[in-house]
Amino acid sequence: MESGRPLLQTGKKVSLGILLEADVPFLFRVINDPDVHRYLSNPGRMMYEHEELEWVRTLGQKEQDSRHFAIVENGSGEIVGVVGVREINFSNGSGILGYFLSKEYWGKGYSTEAVALAVEFCFGTLNMRKLVSAVFEPNTASMKVLIKNGFKECGRYHKHSFVRGHGFVDDVLFEKFNEEHAP
Ligand SMILES: CC(C)(COP(=O)(O)OP(=O)(O)OC[C@H]1O[C@@H](n2cnc3c(N)ncnc32)[C@H](O)[C@@H]1OP(=O)(O)O)[C@@H](O)C(=O)NCCC(=O)NCCS
Repeated sequence: MESGRPLLQTGKKVSLGILLEADVPFLFRVINDPDVHRYLSNPGRMMYEHEELEWVRTLGQKEQDSRHFAIVENGSGEIVGVVGVREINFSNGSGILGYFLSKEYWGKGYSTEAVALAVEFCFGTLNMRKLVSAVFEPNTASMKVLIKNGFKECGRYHKHSFVRGHGFVDDVLFEKFNEEHAP
C-alpha cells in the first residue's frame, strides 16, 4: 500500500487522493496514449513532461475553480487515473466533470466508482448544484460511466468533433443535479 498520499474519498475498489509530483511520469505516459487522449478534449494536443509537472505544481493555486484527484487502486495503492471537475462556477453551483484511466485498468468498474466518489465530493463537500459532462458518441464506456452514476443526456452538438477512426461525431451532453437542489 502506497503511503503518504492523503485520501479524500474512499470506495470499495478505488479512492480519490491528492495528486503528487511523483505522479508526473504516470500522467505523462497515460495522457499521451492515443487510445486515451482521442476521447479527451483537444485530442491532437501533445502533452510535455514539464507541462504535467507545472500542472501538478500549480494545482493548489488553480484549485479555486477546479478539483482534480488521483484515482488510487485500493489494493495496490497505485495511481490508475484522474478524475476532476473544472470551471466550477460557485454562483451557479455548476462544474464540468472529466476523467481518464490508464488502459491496463479499463473494464474493472474503477471509473464508475471514481465518478461516484467525485460526485459525492462535489455535492456533499462543495455543496454544488449540478455537474455536466460531454462525451464523444463512440465513447460508449464513458457514456455508461455517466449513466450508471445518474447523469441524463440533455442534448447534443451534432457532428461536432473529429475523432480518429470515426470522423466527425456528436458531442453528447450530460448533466446531473444534486438532489438536494433539484429544480
Ligand atoms: C471511459 C473510461 C474512463 C472508462 O473507464 P473504465 O474504468 O474502464 O469504466 P468501467 O469499468 O467503470 O465501465 C463502465 C462501463 O463501460 C463498459 N466498458 C468498459 N470499457 C469498454 C469498452 N472499451 N467498450 C465498451 N464498453 C466498455 C463496462 O463494461 C461498463 O459497462 P457495464 O457496467 O454495462 O459492464 C476509460 O475507458 C478511459 O479512460 N478512456 C479514455 C479517456 C476517456 O474516454 N475519458 C472520458 C472522456 S468523456
